[in-house]
Amino acid sequence: MRVAIIGQGYVGLTIAVGAAGAGHEVTGFDVNHDLVGQLNSGVSHIEGISDSDLTCFLSTNNYSASTDPSVLNSSDVVVIAVPTPLTESRNPDLSYVHAAVELIQNNVKGPTLIINESTSYPGTLRKEIAARINGIQHLYASSPERVDPGNTQWGTKNTPRLIGGLTPEAVTKAKEFYSSFCDTVIEVSSPEVAEAAKIFENTFRQVNIALVNEFAQIADALGISGREVLDAAATKPYGFMEFNPGPGVGGHCIPVDPTYLAYVANEVGVPATFIKRANEVNLAMPAYVVKRVIAGAGGSVKGKSVVVVGVSYKANVADTRETPTATIIDLLRVAGAAVSWHDPLVGSWRGENSAELGECDVAVVVTKHDVVSVADIKKSSYVFDCTGSIPGAKGI
Ligand SMILES: NC(=O)c1ccc[n+]([C@@H]2O[C@H](COP(=O)([O-])OP(=O)(O)OC[C@H]3O[C@@H](n4cnc5c(N)ncnc54)[C@H](O)[C@@H]3O)[C@@H](O)[C@H]2O)c1
Repeated sequence: MRVAIIGQGYVGLTIAVGAAGAGHEVTGFDVNHDLVGQLNSGVSHIEGISDSDLTCFLSTNNYSASTDPSVLNSSDVVVIAVPTPLTESRNPDLSYVHAAVELIQNNVKGPTLIINESTSYPGTLRKEIAARINGIQHLYASSPERVDPGNTQWGTKNTPRLIGGLTPEAVTKAKEFYSSFCDTVIEVSSPEVAEAAKIFENTFRQVNIALVNEFAQIADALGISGREVLDAAATKPYGFMEFNPGPGVGGHCIPVDPTYLAYVANEVGVPATFIKRANEVNLAMPAYVVKRVIAGAGGSVKGKSVVVVGVSYKANVADTRETPTATIIDLLRVAGAAVSWHDPLVGSWRGENSAELGECDVAVVVTKHDVVSVADIKKSSYVFDCTGSIPGAKGI
């Protein structure tokens, strides 16, 4: 099939490579000229996609990137994989999806299978995509992406894929496309079910992470180890699933997607109380971390050297979107600490560069990448660990 993918970020590039590997002729369309140039020279910008894979698909003409919207025409399949963030007032921002819809309206001249992979609330495919495209009878399907960047066990091939279409023909065609590079394709009765499933999966994580974050605070106040309690509870072979406490949530999914569900719940007059409370708990974690760091450092960090280890939102990825580290660093500086940070994957961020790990008064481990040495972290006099991966360190 000739496949055009709108957006070549974490999701779009992952699908592009999956489809190219299955022998499709894939064009990755993106508005970012620098990114397109980089991809066409065989340089991947995301973990899990190697430069050698990209170079191989470029050389066989199974993949190329472009900023020319006319590449969307004469495709069998057009996949939308653009950001779905929140506005400043924390409401769904569908402006990128609407821009993708406009591109399709203006450039796709014949009937095509249009698939949305961007995460959004139920009703998006029907009301925000299909209803806005006039003149041509396209086929429409929703297949929300479940990719977990950096996860080496579960990828595009072996993660089951949900598909819901506006018509049976759309479902059939979408199944044909995804079956060529995904092991398991699951048809659901409507695009709304597929959209809601994705958003509920992430809400499930958000709420459970908030629950363990709150529990970690209770356990600490009780003078017991929250992590030991959770490990003990996880020995129950049924009815319990272990989540780990941490400094808050980051990335494009967990801090954002549940708010899409809360938005649509509000539209239909149902309160989304768990989502609201989970947001509050998770957003308060950086302040809790800083409070504990200050207490552990003898009641003050004023004038002390503090290195924050790991600024991306999770281990072994370079993604700093919505990272709780930003607030942790800001609060430590407000408290008078001289703060540097160390993250070899991120390198530079917010106009600052990653510092070498040396002898500091305090090290706060927010994210622990495999490449960062525990011995180097322990050069600091006091280590506060948000990850549960530094033996002997105090933390959450
Ligand atoms: N990152 C994840 O782990 C993940 C996982 C599952 C689902 N999702 C969802 O997938 C969607 C995309 O997320 P992402 O992480 O890939 O985002 P991203 O920011 O990594 O990539 C989005 C890309 O879209 C491009 N873009 C923006 N507007 C465009 C337009 N009008 N035309 C063409 N390209 C455009 C950007 O330049 C960027 O390269 C979101 O809805 C997200 O919630 C993300």
